[in-house]
Amino acid sequence: MFKKQVYVERRLKLRKKIKSGLVMVLGNTESPMNYKSNTYRFRQDSNFLYFFGLDIPGLVGVIDIEDGKDCLYGNDFDIDDIIWMGPQPTLKELGEKVGILSTHPLKELYSTLSRSIQRGRHIHFLPPYRAENILLLEQLLGINQTVIKNYASVELIRAIVNLRSVKEDVEIAEIEKACEVGYQMHVTAMRMAKPGISEQAITGAIEGVAIGQGYMPSFPIILSQNGETLHNHDHSQILTSGRLLLVDSGAEISSHYASDFTRTIPVDGKFTERQKDIYNIVLAANNKAIEISKPEISYMDVHKAAARVIVEGLTKLGLMKGNPDDAVANGAHALFFPHGLGHMMGLDVHDMEDLGENYVGYDDEITRADQFGIAYLRLGRRVQNGFVLTVEPGIYFIPALIQKWKSEKINKAFINYAKVEEYIGFGGIRIEDDILITNNGSRILGKRIPVTIDEIEALMNP
Ligand code: GLY
Ligand code: MN
Repeated sequence: MFKKQVYVERRLKLRKKIKSGLVMVLGNTESPMNYKSNTYRFRQDSNFLYFFGLDIPGLVGVIDIEDGKDCLYGNDFDIDDIIWMGPQPTLKELGEKVGILSTHPLKELYSTLSRSIQRGRHIHFLPPYRAENILLLEQLLGINQTVIKNYASVELIRAIVNLRSVKEDVEIAEIEKACEVGYQMHVTAMRMAKPGISEQAITGAIEGVAIGQGYMPSFPIILSQNGETLHNHDHSQILTSGRLLLVDSGAEISSHYASDFTRTIPVDGKFTERQKDIYNIVLAANNKAIEISKPEISYMDVHKAAARVIVEGLTKLGLMKGNPDDAVANGAHALFFPHGLGHMMGLDVHDMEDLGENYVGYDDEITRADQFGIAYLRLGRRVQNGFVLTVEPGIYFIPALIQKWKSEKINKAFINYAKVEEYIGFGGIRIEDDILITNNGSRILGKRIPVTIDEIEALMNP
């Protein structure tokens, strides 16, 4: 948790962006796994963490724009809770930690809101993503749960995206810590990978790197020899000589700031010549994207520049053909690179995705493309000093996609299908780093995880 002033100032900044009414930010509640008292690990809502800092279930923060008061609603722990959980702070003490003097039992929120609604005041709330909070909103506001997200405040969403997109120095320091843990996770995977070990053993070990420090993975670990499946959560295979292993993972530290890295490594510790050829194209795309990222460039353009590097590389190898600019314009690269170059990162690994990807990644100037591939780009808008984002190009040989495009003759002017079919079974390669946009360019966050062929082979063959 940061010092109280950080939260006070954030709420002040938010006030200046909202014209009138009440801003209500729901914290998360405990969520049962298989019976009520056996809960999933508690994860606080990130917007609540940002403005109200408290990592405790069952709280609601309210910012009254007109009367200038910030309030915290929640229930004090009772003696039963204390018997089972040990001594707990009071709501008043919790409020003081984040600069809030006005604290109230949760039931008072109902009367506060109904008074405000009667007086015609606007209640600003965010799109809910948890069932418990959808139901709570229905009870508090009398709006049917099936349509409640339509009533979320766009004014509030835009204001929060505006604030959270530009990271404060204290946030960057936390993200760097998360990157350090991500580094340790990846280096552990590189040291363990060899024929005969299971994907699950490596997954468990790198999850343990985060959990052993009191942290957690920032999302379910993707670790698979079938790297061509973009988000592959199956870890049932044994590592086999000759194959590649794709590891996409990061840490979420106690302050809940995240990291997110991908490395693709040879199971044998040595890349084959064919693997090197494809790997170096992805690495060139990753380097190009980092090199050109700077304030005011649109991430859509950075994505296209990375796609162009991929097309040029694949053309040299004979997998693609024709004019590279035309190939990118027609989306031909998406057979191999069917996802976006990256996303914002911060308190969420896909930062603020709960607020709506189009509000976070796009604006009035740059809107989401509908072409296959680039349509998955989460971040297309111009980037600014202080943005933290991922750079994650990849090349994948997805058998079903290759068969579909070939049979439908999609982009046949740019793709040498006979050659591409020789790569079925190759898998996929993705390389992902986290960067901060700076005054005049960008910098990689954390220590760079071994990424060149020489660095990876050196680490895997000490
Ligand atoms: N690294 C996983 C993702 O960005 O979706
Ligand atoms: Mn990512």
